[in-house]
Amino acid sequence: ATVTKEFNIGWVYGNPDGVFNRPVMGINGQWPIPALFVKKGDTLVVNVNNQLGNETTSLHWHGLYQNGTTNMDGPVGVTQCEIPVGGSFTYNFTVDQPGTYWFHSHTRGQYPDGLRAPFIVEDDEMPFADMYDEEIILSFSDWYHDLMPGLLASFISVSNPTGAEPVPDSALMNDTQNLEIPVLPGKTYLLRMVNMAAFAAQYVWIEGHEMQVVEVDGVYTEPATANMLYMTAAQRYSVLFTTKNDTSANFPIMGSMDQDLFDAIPDGLNPNVTGWLVYDGAKDKPAAQELDAFEPFDDFTLVPHDKEPVYENVNHNVQLDLKMDNLGDGANYAFFNDITYVPPKVPTLYTAMTTGETATDPAIYGINTNPFILAQGEVVELVLNNDDPGKHPFHLHGHNFQVLIRSDDDAGFYDAATSNATIPATPMRRDTVLVRPGGHFVLRFRADNPGIWLFHCHIEWHVTSGLIATFVEAPLALQSSNIPHDHLAACAANNPPTPTAG
Ligand code: C2O
Repeated sequence: ATVTKEFNIGWVYGNPDGVFNRPVMGINGQWPIPALFVKKGDTLVVNVNNQLGNETTSLHWHGLYQNGTTNMDGPVGVTQCEIPVGGSFTYNFTVDQPGTYWFHSHTRGQYPDGLRAPFIVEDDEMPFADMYDEEIILSFSDWYHDLMPGLLASFISVSNPTGAEPVPDSALMNDTQNLEIPVLPGKTYLLRMVNMAAFAAQYVWIEGHEMQVVEVDGVYTEPATANMLYMTAAQRYSVLFTTKNDTSANFPIMGSMDQDLFDAIPDGLNPNVTGWLVYDGAKDKPAAQELDAFEPFDDFTLVPHDKEPVYENVNHNVQLDLKMDNLGDGANYAFFNDITYVPPKVPTLYTAMTTGETATDPAIYGINTNPFILAQGEVVELVLNNDDPGKHPFHLHGHNFQVLIRSDDDAGFYDAATSNATIPATPMRRDTVLVRPGGHFVLRFRADNPGIWLFHCHIEWHVTSGLIATFVEAPLALQSSNIPHDHLAACAANNPPTPTAG
C-alpha cells in the first residue's frame, strides 16, 4: 500500500519535564510527535512543508537502507539540499525491512529541538508474533531547556577549548516524566524501545520483570534474557516481557542517563526518568531501586535470528582513527584520520551523479568530506580506533553491519596481527554501535547498496564538531540508476562547487 503523510514542520511549545516551557519543533501543530507506522512493503510518501520560519530542515529515516533511493536519505549536503524556509520536499520510498526505527532532522544539530519520533515497520511474518498479545512503543531521550542554535554556538567556540558537551537538563520517556503504561495481568507485551537522545545513553530496566531481547536496530535476534539494557543515542531494542498474574502492585520502568559521558555533573541534575507499569491505577507507584542492582546486558552476545555467518574474504579495509583536538581558531573539533568533516557546498550525491568516470576519484568530493569510494559488492572491513577518553555511538547510513570485535576500555588501536579477539561465527548486526574510551571496534558490511552513506558519531555535538566520514558506494552504478540526475540541480546552482585540490 502507499501511505501518504503531510508533515507541516513548525514551532509549537513543549514542557516535557514539567520545569520549563520552551519552543519545540512539532509536526502539524503537534508535539510530542506521534510515532509513524507503516507495514513492510509499503511505499511511504511524506510531503514536508517547512513552516519553521527561521530554520531550514530535512528528515532522515534512521536505519532504513534506502536501497535504490539514496536521494531520500535526508542528510543535508550529502543526498539533498536544505529544505528552505517556506519550501517543501517530498520523501518517497519503499520500506522493505521490518522493525523499530526512528526519523529525525538531519540538518545541522537540529533534532534535539524536538524534531524526532519513533518509526515502526510492522511485519506480517514477525517470527515472534505468536508470543505476545500487545505492542508498546517506548522512546527515551535527553532534554535541554535551551535551544540548539545557541547551545551549538557556545559548544564550538574559543570559550570551550576542551569541547565539553552541554549536559542535558533532564531525561524523558515518551517525551514526559510521568509515563504510565497500563498493563493487564498474565499477558506478554512486545516493547519497542528507541533512544532518540542528542547525547546521553541510558540504562533501562523494568523492576520485577525480565526482558527477552528479540530485535536490535531492525534485526531480529535469537531471544536473549536481559535485566537491564544500555541504549546509546540512536539504538533500538525490542523486548518481550510477561506481566504478573495479579494486580497487587505497580512497577517502575527506569531510564538512567550514563553520567560517564558528562565532563562535569551540574548540581541538582536528576539523571533518571521513572515511568510505571500500572496494573491497578488505585495502587501506589513505588520508587525504583538503585542502578547498581542490575548488570547491563552485553549486546555483543546477541545472535541474529537468520544466523547470517560472518562475511569472509574482505576486499576493502578502511581504518578510521578518532581524536579530538583544537584547531587554529581555539575551538575543539573531532577528527577521523586528522580530518574534521566540513559539509561540501554541493551535496556529495550531486557530485557523484555528474562527474562521469571521475566519480571514483575521492579527490573530487573534497578532502574535508573524508570520502571513501566503495566498489559494488565488495566486503568492507571498518576498523575504528578511539584515541579519545570518551564513549561514542557510531552509525552507518544505508546498511547495518556485523560487529566482529568490540574492545574494552583502553585497549588501544586494533592490530590484526596481534589481536586475540574471538570473532563470533554469526555476529550481531545492527546500525549503531558503541566504541569504548580508548578502545576500538571492527565491523564488516557488504557494499550492496549504491549510494552516498554517512558514517558518524550519533552524539549530535560530535556531528557538529566533524566526526563524520562519507562512503561513496558504487558511484558509477548510481549514475546509471533511476535516481533523477537533476534531483539536486537547483541547489547545486546556488552553491557552485569550489575546485578541490587533487
Ligand atoms: Cu540517525 Cu546520520 O543519523
